[in-house]
Amino acid sequence: MSCTRRQFLLGAGIAFGAVATRRAVAASTAMSDMPMRRAATLASPKVPLVNPMSLARFVDPLPIPPRARATGLRMHPAWPGRQLPCHRVTMRAFNARLHRDLPPTPMWGYEGSSPGPTIEVQGDEPVLVEWVNALPQRHFLPIDHGLHGAERDKPDVRAVTHVHGARVPPHSDGWPEDWYVPGKSALYGYPNGQDAATLWYHDHAMGITRLNIYAGLYGAWWVRDPQEQALGLPAGEYELPLLLCDRLIARNGELYYPVSTDPDAPWVMQCQGNLVLCNGKLFPYLQVEPRIYRLRLTNVANSSLFELSLSHGLAFHQIGSDQGLLPAPVQRERIELYPAERADVLVDFGELAGSAVHLRHQDSEILEFRVAHRAASTAASVIPRALRPAPRLDASRAVRERVLALGEMDDSGGNATVMLLDGKRWSDPISERPHQGDIEIWSFVNATGDAHPIHLHLVRFQILERRAFDLFAWNAHRTLRYTDPAQPPAPHEVGWKDTVGADPGMVTRIIAKFDGEPGRYVWHCHLLEHEDNEMMRPFELLPARIERRE
Ligand code: C2O
Ligand code: CU
Ligand code: CU
Repeated sequence: MSCTRRQFLLGAGIAFGAVATRRAVAASTAMSDMPMRRAATLASPKVPLVNPMSLARFVDPLPIPPRARATGLRMHPAWPGRQLPCHRVTMRAFNARLHRDLPPTPMWGYEGSSPGPTIEVQGDEPVLVEWVNALPQRHFLPIDHGLHGAERDKPDVRAVTHVHGARVPPHSDGWPEDWYVPGKSALYGYPNGQDAATLWYHDHAMGITRLNIYAGLYGAWWVRDPQEQALGLPAGEYELPLLLCDRLIARNGELYYPVSTDPDAPWVMQCQGNLVLCNGKLFPYLQVEPRIYRLRLTNVANSSLFELSLSHGLAFHQIGSDQGLLPAPVQRERIELYPAERADVLVDFGELAGSAVHLRHQDSEILEFRVAHRAASTAASVIPRALRPAPRLDASRAVRERVLALGEMDDSGGNATVMLLDGKRWSDPISERPHQGDIEIWSFVNATGDAHPIHLHLVRFQILERRAFDLFAWNAHRTLRYTDPAQPPAPHEVGWKDTVGADPGMVTRIIAKFDGEPGRYVWHCHLLEHEDNEMMRPFELLPARIERRE
């Protein structure tokens, strides 16, 4: 099956770093007894695309999104009688310059830029954000009205913002069906009761999230706390957001979103670009000093895996992952990030004065660091040896283990492919209903040919292990039979996560404590094409169990 999909993409001649898997798992025979998917074909773009080789390298400076400033004080029903700092962030259409030599690109962005402003918050200090929808009345990307939540009776332009990785009450999580139309806004409240971490915000509207994010609706959200601040990490101009995504860019400057050959069912299973945007620019450069920098690498792509490295044999010192600091820095030559994953890294340009250092994705250079001859000050920061302990959650304290299959199939009518979690659709009754304070293990059984980055709202989790299993036994009688010993998480994966790469042919087990406010949240695959096509499920956090003493 994986072959089918690869041919499906490669046949169209615009495949770009198809979602590779982290480990070489033989998945080619995996799906032989799964239902056959309708042979979807990718239409060739009607507009000529930019030839990546034709674009001049490193002629535009790297944009650094502005830091958002609270615009005033407001009240929110969740904090009665309290005036809280409030940001007003407006989604609008704008024209971007992706590259010096390209015509302007119509896009959508928060505050009219993509990425939107970086919102920085302090742990435990609540803030409000009024997310204003001032988008146009018409969408400029191809909506598939056959997808759940995007039917013809729904307005084309809808938006609702979610802060990815935020521990937030249900009223402000950005429930996908709580979208609103241009002219409306929502006032959300964020308690920020969580550790310092690199989060990001993005659109989450039901059935069109992939299009809204592709249009440019994303930005960085950083949580700080005293423990992180005490480490003396590079700050100010030495700390940079790097939001990475790929796009198909046409020669007329427009974003092209791929469609199938069926105009009534344009949805495609993946969207891979021909070019990589770093903070919204193609092949930008940045002047740096010969010293240590902190980079907040964030994969905001629809479906591409980034495989990042630096030239000159320079290493990343990874200090954090999705949900904050690792126990200790991990030196890495290569960093792979699935959509929505983050890596907080230190890079030391100290030995490379006068050089041009490149950040690469696979073999292509996507950003140039021009290292000056001297540093502006001698206040050199160092790479700390210890960061923040991440005590392991004890699997024996889990009250429940849920075995959840990741699947893809044709629907009963032989129509378009759908992607499913635990064989269920979005509208099926809620099946994951943990109690507040419970520790649970969720085991993702990936019986598809592709990796799926699985994300849970509200909670942070730890990866317990990944383990290869017998696909035939699973497909034939849902028996989990392991074929290899379990692989513990790598050193860069031992911290707190909110998104995990679930590799094909593997069971990926995570453990979480379900703290937070009771109510409805979601969990989903963060390949946005999958998320929009049923690979998203609600979960409900129930109030804490009443302790019963016999
Ligand atoms: Cu990045 Cu449901 O979100
Ligand atoms: Cu999220
Ligand atoms: Cu998926």
